[in-house]
Amino acid sequence: MSLSFEMPPGYRLEKFDNLDSTNEEAKRRAQTGAAAGLIISAQSQSAGKGRQGRTWISPSGGLYFSILLRPTCPAAKAAQLSFVSALAVGEGIATSLRVPERLCFKWPNDVLIGTRKVAGILLESGSGSKILEWLVVGIGINIESHPENMNYPATCLIHETGTACDPAQVLVNVVHAFDKWCRIWEGEGFEPLRVAWLDRARGLKTEIEVRLFEHSIRGVFQGLAPDGALRLEVPGEGERIIPAGDVYFPVQS
Ligand code: BTN
Repeated sequence: MSLSFEMPPGYRLEKFDNLDSTNEEAKRRAQTGAAAGLIISAQSQSAGKGRQGRTWISPSGGLYFSILLRPTCPAAKAAQLSFVSALAVGEGIATSLRVPERLCFKWPNDVLIGTRKVAGILLESGSGSKILEWLVVGIGINIESHPENMNYPATCLIHETGTACDPAQVLVNVVHAFDKWCRIWEGEGFEPLRVAWLDRARGLKTEIEVRLFEHSIRGVFQGLAPDGALRLEVPGEGERIIPAGDVYFPVQS
């Protein structure tokens, strides 16, 4: 296989040995006027951030990067970039896997191999009025190691492929796939992404638990609404449309 480290047109990469967080650096750049397409990567992060205020443990040997965007669409639509990102990560790593079919997605934007999380995505945005000024897509991929004792099972690419993976090549693959899915989304809307994501969704038509801010709900995962919200069939209540939350699957013996 021939290797190319070239970014797609419109993207430019700045690499750091260590940062507090690539999302924080991309946000600082956004606030001082950097153009869309800037990618900040770091070999390690001292204050890596996960979703919902969690920490993303970021030792060297992992892949940590953030893409700065300046979407011109409403914020609710820009949130669909989390699906663009999940599809891009999936496509970017699938070719390295011995069994690419094991790759799947957990709503809204975790990437799993089998039942274990291999990558996480954190979107952050800033707006002056109703229009977004900037949006940062932060992506963390476990390459050489993965955290233990989290509230979810994790894995890493080296464990899944049995061979070394070059983080620089994974980064380029993901950015190319990101650019491709962005164009599909801009040209054809969310539907092709919804279909592609559902094709690899974990737990479809099974019972799941969705944790919201103050409580959780159980129900059957019926799919995605046209905007990417989760459709949950709740016993005795009917279908609920859930715009944000954390999905948990029943513990399997
Ligand atoms: C999650 O909780 O699943 C999201 C994790 C996102 C981690 C990435 S690593 C690169 C970027 N910088 C951060 O501080 N977080 C994101």
